[in-house]
Amino acid sequence: MAEHPPYPVGLRLTGRRVVVLGGGQVAQRRLPALIGAGADIHLVSPEATPSVEAMADAGEITWHRRPYAEGDLADAWYALIATSDPEANTAASAEAETHRVWCVRSDDADQATAWTPATGHSEGVTVAVLTTDARGRDPRHTAAVRDAVVEGLRDGTLVAPHHRTRTAGVALVGGGPGDPDLITVRGRRLLAEADVVIADRLGPRDLLAELPPHVEVIDAAKIPYGRYMAQEAINNALVEHARQGKSVVRLKGGDPYVFGRGMEELQALTEAGIPCTVVPGISSSVSVPGAAGIPVTHRGVAHEFTVVSGHVAPDDERSLVDWPSLAKLTGTLVVLMGVDKIGRIAETLMAHGKSPHTPVALVQEGTTAAQRRVDATLATVADTVVAQDVRPPAVIVIGDVVAVGPDGTAA
Ligand SMILES: C[S@@+](CC[C@H](N)C(=O)[O-])C[C@H]1O[C@@H](n2cnc3c(N)ncnc32)[C@H](O)[C@@H]1O
Repeated sequence: MAEHPPYPVGLRLTGRRVVVLGGGQVAQRRLPALIGAGADIHLVSPEATPSVEAMADAGEITWHRRPYAEGDLADAWYALIATSDPEANTAASAEAETHRVWCVRSDDADQATAWTPATGHSEGVTVAVLTTDARGRDPRHTAAVRDAVVEGLRDGTLVAPHHRTRTAGVALVGGGPGDPDLITVRGRRLLAEADVVIADRLGPRDLLAELPPHVEVIDAAKIPYGRYMAQEAINNALVEHARQGKSVVRLKGGDPYVFGRGMEELQALTEAGIPCTVVPGISSSVSVPGAAGIPVTHRGVAHEFTVVSGHVAPDDERSLVDWPSLAKLTGTLVVLMGVDKIGRIAETLMAHGKSPHTPVALVQEGTTAAQRRVDATLATVADTVVAQDVRPPAVIVIGDVVAVGPDGTAA
């Protein structure tokens, strides 16, 4: 039977009777996909693992609590034979043959009329890998091939552009804090499929070097404004490229909606009738402190964290931040874009009751090779920034979490 390779096919099992014999580990592993396929599943087995039992309790399968009996496969479209009794398996196999029911056998692939491929999914496709011959079966190898394909599709190292569904439009992709490994799987895939990438200075710039030569990479900071504001010029560039029928990725640092002007870009695209998808990213507000060993919350130390923009000083009329109220909070303050104004920020927090001894950490270029952490207190931070030449981009963490080290003690 194994002289020829198997013929691959996708069974459409919705509402069709599938019989599973044996409620052990094999059934436990295979049942979720059968349930996912919408099959009418009948499990015949005196016993079942707790997970399989839970599937029966949830009404996902019908469980007949008894051993296999002749006739069980009569009306089945497909069968999985996986009891611990080799004689029952052989008898069931023979019955399957008689009734022309395709059957998988867990104990003897040679006697089976169907083999289960190693499967994985990626954005609307199922990858199924089958071995070509039962004797040379190497399940670890088929699983490894499956993993390589699925992982490659997910992280963009295998590029398989969508042709039928691929539409011109823009993806606003949160690229994470800078380390190229910290972009999402979806972001990376969209980047790999892009015709045009408009990138910020912050974010995973190393990924741009990996793009194929036909991809046009535009530095958002270098788009000429003309009579527009810089952001308007970026919005216009997104619209223009998308109108030319191109797939455009707007690669942004961190998360597009955390001080990222993502919504402004989405609004401009919506107004222009351009389809747009937004892919979240790992924000520097949480990941950069973490990369420097600082948890933004810690049991018994901080029950809240507040992320604030420090791009305008507390006494600036444009500021929307209620600094006096923030001074009264006991949790962690995370300040983005605050290096230039940290002196005024620290003064305001102290003037409204925050202790001058409150620990402060500045983490510059977090998650990149140039990452550095500088520690201070509210009283000393203004001088420290100057003395240590701390420069943007940096995340400033204010609060007792700064002193929490990995061993549970002060850092
Ligand atoms: C315009 S905001 C964008 C924030 C971004 N959308 C996010 O979610 O991380 C830029 C600020 O984010 C912070 N930042 C972003 N990436 C950083 C990094 N790798 N290291 C330190 N700070 C970073 C700095 O405070 C910087 O001034």
